[in-house]
Amino acid sequence: MTSFPSSRPRRLRVNPAVRRLVAENRLHPAELVLPVFVREGLSEPQPLSSMPGVYQHTRDSLRKAAAEAAGLGLGGIMLFGVPEQKDAVGSGATDPDGILNLAVADVRAEVGDDLVVMGDLCLDEFTDHGHCGVLTPEGVVDNDATLLRYADMGVAMAQAGAHMVGPSGMMDGQVAAVRKALDENGFAENVSILAYAAKYASAFYGPFREAVNSSLQGDRRTYQQDPANAQESLREVELDLAEGADLVMVKPAMSYLDVVARVADRFEVPVAAYQISGEYSMIEAAAANGWIDRERAILESLLSIRRAGASIILTYWAAEVAKTLREQG
Ligand code: PBG
Repeated sequence: MTSFPSSRPRRLRVNPAVRRLVAENRLHPAELVLPVFVREGLSEPQPLSSMPGVYQHTRDSLRKAAAEAAGLGLGGIMLFGVPEQKDAVGSGATDPDGILNLAVADVRAEVGDDLVVMGDLCLDEFTDHGHCGVLTPEGVVDNDATLLRYADMGVAMAQAGAHMVGPSGMMDGQVAAVRKALDENGFAENVSILAYAAKYASAFYGPFREAVNSSLQGDRRTYQQDPANAQESLREVELDLAEGADLVMVKPAMSYLDVVARVADRFEVPVAAYQISGEYSMIEAAAANGWIDRERAILESLLSIRRAGASIILTYWAAEVAKTLREQG
């Protein structure tokens, strides 16, 4: 005789109401952060061909995007500046009238404290060689000379009104250098550090280069992590926390969900994950070809990052997903 199962997990999948009731993870707009690009000297928002639906903003259109993000109840906005002039040391990053600092001030004036205003703290958007730091005469990224630039950049962004700065250059000691500078300049109590703690030398950053008009000479493998390593990320996170990071981030997200899970298990701080440009573009491209269901793929990708243990997700779909979640009730 056929033996019938006594355990039937399918009973909890019979209809949408039951599935909703037993869902272990959900997405919420408050945990989503929208990364945005603002370009100096632009008169109209400029669509990015490698990231359909994403724009380089003008200062004006950025303000509107920030107001929309706040209205949608997003958790935050992460700003990237694209300067007109780039040079060897990334001067635009520390200039109070540099595009990123102006944008931080604009956005802060627009949203006040309704949205966490974050700035990407790195030099690659501002250097003519495209590296995240200043170079030695031999062309190697000079760790300690770069720390001095990061310290100044952190202070400039804090002065412009950033609630949170995100050191993302993977220099050793960057969190400590930025924390010290913030503390010495009156920002000890109100400006926090979201450390891009575990950041890999990834091929998936490809479309970002168009987004920030960067032509990188060489690669970032002497400072970003080798995709072969996971344990190393735990050490990077440990160091950043010891240096004063308030939150930590893993980046990219989808190819590093094991790292997200291990970091979230091990450390008692909020863990963010950054679903980066290439992750966005892959799904958009496959959907545009009719190969996958766009909306389902987006939500599934975000849910997988959430399930791995990230409590904060940076995604270029943040505003769209917030609208979808609102419609779903
Ligand atoms: C560094 C930085 C990068 C990204 C975010 N911050 C580029 C890099 O490290 O190579 C990538 C974001 C993305 O690809 O969406 N300024």
